[in-house]
Amino acid sequence: KRVAVFISGGGSNMISLADACAASDFPAEISAVISDKPSAGGLAKATARGIPTYAFERKDFASKAEHEAAILMALDDIKPDIICLAGYMRLISGAFISRYEGRMLNIHPSLLPLFPGLHTHQRALDSGMRLAGCTVHFVTEGMDEGPIVAQGVVPVLTGDTAEILAGRVLTVEHKLYPLALKLLAEGKVKMENGRAVHETAT
Ligand code: GRF
Repeated sequence: KRVAVFISGGGSNMISLADACAASDFPAEISAVISDKPSAGGLAKATARGIPTYAFERKDFASKAEHEAAILMALDDIKPDIICLAGYMRLISGAFISRYEGRMLNIHPSLLPLFPGLHTHQRALDSGMRLAGCTVHFVTEGMDEGPIVAQGVVPVLTGDTAEILAGRVLTVEHKLYPLALKLLAEGKVKMENGRAVHETAT
């Protein structure tokens, strides 16, 4: 399966996906890395791995629609089977998502449905929860609310700051996302009628 990964920053999740895809028996390969930030550090890391990169600076386009149209045109050439959003900090329109519904994943640094949106680690700490974690979900029009594919959990420890917790969660993200991508690439999870359907272990 051909995968396009969308990033906006350092791309550590993209790197963990690329490392997983490098295994000969992994059922997916990264065909392109796309960013809305030409300055995204992850672009250089992708290039270093021989992965084609595409950058679309939002302010080079008169509107969100034109920005997305340019990305969609590149995707028409890349022809990905799957899109993985990985630290992509821009909402994608319903029209765009419908082109890839059921084939677009995102990783979010909280145990959804808790703490959608930003500052998830501080919010988890403020809530007094003793568990935190991350979620890979199908992307739907609403932000961070698509059907859940996989989750990883970490303990909240005494003395945790948002930064410490973020680092503990990120380590799990780097394991969780390749697992979730493998499930989708192998057809072991599908999105049907707005729900994630996991193949039962036979
Ligand atoms: C991290 O906070 C991660 O939890 C979220 O996006 C941020 C940057 O990720 N998914 P990355 O290092 O760019 O993959």
